[in-house]
Amino acid sequence: MRTHYCGELNRQQVDQQVSVCGWVNRRRDHGGVIFVDLRDKKGLLQVVFDPDDAAMFGAAETLRNEYVIQVEGRLRVRPEGTENSEMGTGEVELLAQKLQILNASETPPFQLDDEDVHDDNRLKYRYIDLRKPEMQYRMQLRARVTHYLRSWLESHEFLDIETPMLTRATPEGARDYLVPSRTHPGEFFALPQSPQLFKQLLMMSGMDRYYQIVRCFRDEDLRADRQPEFTQLDIETSFMNEEAIMEMMEAMMRGLFSEVLAADVDAAFPRMSWAEAMERFGSDKPDLRIKLELQTISDVLEDVEFKVFSGPARDPDGRVAALRLPGGNTLTRKEIDDYTAYVGLYGARGLAYIKCNDVALGRDGLQSPILKFLPDEAIATIVERTAAENGDLIFFGADKTRVVNESLGALRIKLGHDRGLVEEGWRFLWVVDFPMFEHDERENRWNALHHPFTAPATENPEALEADPGNMLSRAYDMVLNGTELGGGSVRIHKIEMQQRVFSLLGIGEQEAEDKFGFLLTALKYGCPPHGGIAFGLDRMVMLMAGASSIRDVMAFPKTQSAACLLTQAPAAVSERQLRELSIRLRKPQVEQ
Ligand code: AMO
Ligand code: AMP
Repeated sequence: MRTHYCGELNRQQVDQQVSVCGWVNRRRDHGGVIFVDLRDKKGLLQVVFDPDDAAMFGAAETLRNEYVIQVEGRLRVRPEGTENSEMGTGEVELLAQKLQILNASETPPFQLDDEDVHDDNRLKYRYIDLRKPEMQYRMQLRARVTHYLRSWLESHEFLDIETPMLTRATPEGARDYLVPSRTHPGEFFALPQSPQLFKQLLMMSGMDRYYQIVRCFRDEDLRADRQPEFTQLDIETSFMNEEAIMEMMEAMMRGLFSEVLAADVDAAFPRMSWAEAMERFGSDKPDLRIKLELQTISDVLEDVEFKVFSGPARDPDGRVAALRLPGGNTLTRKEIDDYTAYVGLYGARGLAYIKCNDVALGRDGLQSPILKFLPDEAIATIVERTAAENGDLIFFGADKTRVVNESLGALRIKLGHDRGLVEEGWRFLWVVDFPMFEHDERENRWNALHHPFTAPATENPEALEADPGNMLSRAYDMVLNGTELGGGSVRIHKIEMQQRVFSLLGIGEQEAEDKFGFLLTALKYGCPPHGGIAFGLDRMVMLMAGASSIRDVMAFPKTQSAACLLTQAPAAVSERQLRELSIRLRKPQVEQ
């Protein structure tokens, strides 16, 4: 049916007979001549219908947006002055000689070039939304990314191995999607949150290097960079330490960005400890394109009369931090109130600030409702530590360390975007030296910061037990422009250590045996040292495409409430299906 794609025609095919197929993007009638912009996956082509051929012209008059047609004709150069430099094919046009309407279309629910289509409508009519050049580009980019990653990994001895979708719960910290078993009444499979344990078992199976582009399922609160089902590039290797793994993954990412985006990426990704990232950026995934940083000032505020500051400054779990905004002096009252409300979303109870008019004058050159509570030396230290200059504004957070980090960390990002302080480019970063555990205050127990199979920075189980709160792990996260692209670790490969970690996490022997008995048994039969990483493929493509949500790089994503508007899933099922699965729905209570 087709000799060429619309979007690939240019001066080289002029005077050739060509046949193209596609969708009517737009029809314009111009004094007896009809122009149709025809669209296919490679772009637009202008087709001209001349009134000389009355039958064909009549048919062309019936064309509407999104009709599917085939046109044959002769390609010609556009008349002088009518070229369109915005169109890839803007120098040529197709003079139609034969038109075939392959299918009509009702008026589409939205115009493809309308920027304000409601997201729900885009998802409900996803097959129309995906026709947009931008979405076509994103899907093509995604395919180029996976193609590159596969070939890179295969040329480095990685084997593509599939792992089960119907499996047991995997502890990645989210809620599971469950699948009832018909043959085992009352029992359920869990869809994998990741193939973590299977890839470790594959190392024990001697596969040496594994990879898989694999769907993972997590029933968690959704955000712009989270979907209930998403795709990981999952990797595991044997006999490599964290240095070697990180180096290898860096090389892969440099190659990917160079091949797919022609982008030059840092020769070596910088490394930063988790503690430093939290201290300087209030985040374990700092966006290094934004130069604003947090400074701790707790030490100079312990004895000030202002309780809002002195309380957290004295609290071992508290923090008082400053965030200098260059040129922030011009912020209005309203803007400061808005930022105060914004940090409130992260639990902050206020957002104190000082405006710097003339820092040389000390107190007299500053402006703030809290100045009167602060002694001269505290003010001097704050100005010095933040390196504040005339015209700047300093924000303050004082609370539990977690609240200060989350709120000022988020404010830092927001200010960066609002004030045009985000530098261009790709800023990769490895965050390393994570704590092994975090303490859950409410339940008074330890949780694994990564997952329970991550090796601690010691080979000695006794040392781990002695001071779990200060033990670091052998985990690493790859961060790009403030997004956690991937995370991994060297794993525990000795049963004694694995049992010790389970017990620290409050997983008793019986529970460990029930849930992870297969892993513990496998550890007894010759487990090599191993480690790996998993990248969020959707996030990777989102960043590379310049999209703002992973939804925009998934063909058929779900909504915020984890539903598919296109197929209307999830949906009710028949009584019979439920009976087969031995599931009885509780009758809704009738109110008396
Ligand atoms: P982790 O849980 O950190 O590690 O996941 C790895 C990467 O997957 C991406 N990701 C998500 N992307 C979209 N939607 C989600 N809901 C979502 N959740 C996670 C992130 C994240 O960095 N088994 C370990 C990896 C390992 O240790 O090798 C794991 O799954 O980009
Ligand atoms: P107040 O004494 O409550 O009027 O607060 C004085 C200033 O301190 C206001 O600008 C508040 O926004 C700010 N503030 C109050 N609580 C905090 C806090 N926990 N962290 C930072 N600033 C705060």
